[in-house]
Amino acid sequence: MASRSSHDPQPVDVIDLRSDTVTKPSKAMREAMARAPVGDDVYGDDPTVGCLESRVAEVLGKEEAVYVPTGTMANQAAIRAHTQSGDRVLLDWGTHSVRSESGGPAALSGVTADRILGKRGVFTAAQLVATAGKARGGRPDFCTPPATLLCVENTHNAGGGKVWPLDALDEVARTGRSLGLRTHLDGARLWNASAATGVSEARWAREFDSVSVCFSKGLGAPLGSAVAGSRDFVQRVRRFKQLFGGGFRQAGIVAAGALHALERHRDGLPLDHKKAQALAGELASLPAVNLRPESVETNIVRFEVATSAANFVEACRREGVVMLDTGPRQVRAVTHRDVSMDEIGRAAEVMAHSLEGLQR
Ligand SMILES: Cc1ncc(COP(=O)(O)O)c(C=O)c1O
Repeated sequence: MASRSSHDPQPVDVIDLRSDTVTKPSKAMREAMARAPVGDDVYGDDPTVGCLESRVAEVLGKEEAVYVPTGTMANQAAIRAHTQSGDRVLLDWGTHSVRSESGGPAALSGVTADRILGKRGVFTAAQLVATAGKARGGRPDFCTPPATLLCVENTHNAGGGKVWPLDALDEVARTGRSLGLRTHLDGARLWNASAATGVSEARWAREFDSVSVCFSKGLGAPLGSAVAGSRDFVQRVRRFKQLFGGGFRQAGIVAAGALHALERHRDGLPLDHKKAQALAGELASLPAVNLRPESVETNIVRFEVATSAANFVEACRREGVVMLDTGPRQVRAVTHRDVSMDEIGRAAEVMAHSLEGLQR
């Protein structure tokens, strides 16, 4: 089957469940962007970027924050700012920063990624200790790359939007610190973790040296992320943002969208989670689907089908519902602010119908 080109736009009336990144800026957001005062951000002149950065630092409970174009740049600039070439970074097997950022840790920071096998992205302090201490095998310490950084992802994308238990997250961060590691939290969807639990973003990030967040996912801004931490650390991140080509000039136009999203769209996330639960409930009732609805904690629904996932996704696409096949039988559907509860109902019908067709 011919695969679609990434430049082949989806027809306008499709129900697009590939990702929460497909959301488009609302009219009110576009108006806020049009009104935004701007300046050259590389010279520190953009007032809207300044306003966004202060507000983000406040929401995340950190001294300072820096606005960057993407979540990938946020993670990679943070990793670079925390490490030296040759260091070892400890993170979960399915972490976005090693799985889906084009080899950034090796290419941009020269570090070895040491992956811990978590359950849906969640691992224990004991696993962290065991992985960090690899040098203690009778060999001299200098044979093993020094572990200097711990990265954790919450919510966990590959883990199906899994929210870390707060005490487990605190414990791995504190254990990391006791091992002499610096700690970074990839909070691309930290907003969803807060919406699902009532735990504030600042509380989730409290035990971490740095935290990154994205405005371009469930919050619905067209682009942009931020990294927050101590003033000194953020100054280092600013340097690597520039090195990686992220110095964007009148960035206030897009920062205004992020600010609008931060102040007005976090309230919409519980509804996105309800849509995911509704979809999961429908899917779980289908004999050809393997899914535990209670595993859906936020806006990401990952499930298995008893047929080829690629064929299933293609059959649904022909009927106007788009998703991602993420393995031979694995599928990902993500709910977001641009899909309604009614559309979720229609999508579930298309999925049921497509599975029936494929199994005939
Ligand atoms: C957990 C996580 N971190 C980082 C990113 C990267 O964000 P971006 O696509 O803005 O580079 C993503 C993207 O989906 C993600 O899911």
